[in-house]
Amino acid sequence: MDARQMKIKAAEAALSYVEDGMRLGIGTGSTAEEFVRLLAEKVSSGLRVQGVPTSERTARLCVELGVPLKSLDELPELDLTIDGADEVDHGLRLIKGGGGALLREKIVAAASSRVIVIADQTKVVDTLGAFPLPIEINIFGKVATCIAIEKLASKLGLSGDLKLRSLEDGPFKTDGGHLIFDASFGRIPDAEALARELNTIPGVVEHGLFINLASLAIIAGPDGARIMQ
Ligand code: 5RP
Repeated sequence: MDARQMKIKAAEAALSYVEDGMRLGIGTGSTAEEFVRLLAEKVSSGLRVQGVPTSERTARLCVELGVPLKSLDELPELDLTIDGADEVDHGLRLIKGGGGALLREKIVAAASSRVIVIADQTKVVDTLGAFPLPIEINIFGKVATCIAIEKLASKLGLSGDLKLRSLEDGPFKTDGGHLIFDASFGRIPDAEALARELNTIPGVVEHGLFINLASLAIIAGPDGARIMQ
């Protein structure tokens, strides 16, 4: 089974949690997109859901495939969100934001009664941090924000490069118009402490540590999908 087939397996398993009439948060990334494709098939055969997309990219795919959408302001309380992750540990702590949608993903997750993470088994780790941590920052004062992040990381015994995410034609901008630093801290033994500290820096808009947000994870491997909770 290749990586794409594993993502499809996880997405298929997630679909069984979707009930008629649900208000659904819809994640971003290649795994979430497999879920959107499967969801669209169910919608075309009569399933009624209202989706709130976590990015413009997801919104475009939903529109293209006929998944009905609302804004989070129209549906501020959601029954379930299905989203991917860059890393999942055994306490269901996540690193997210590889696709640059972490702010909207976190807002949507926080507005959901349940969050189900879908991923292939390569995303499961004992300790978060091999995947560089995305940190969304305001454009204003980015150098000062970078220094502040480095100082707090060092206070927590962490160090590593903070790389401004770039495209060929300039810096990557999020749907909210912000920038992203990808922080290669390596192993993050105390993700809660780092999350708390990052939230104290004014220039940090949001970070990709998702703690106490995921209700369960569906992890797909060559032998099928298993549940982590
Ligand atoms: C986007 C995300 C994605 O969920 C994460 O990057 C995983 O993506 P993929 O399913 O393509 O591996 O957090 O901001």
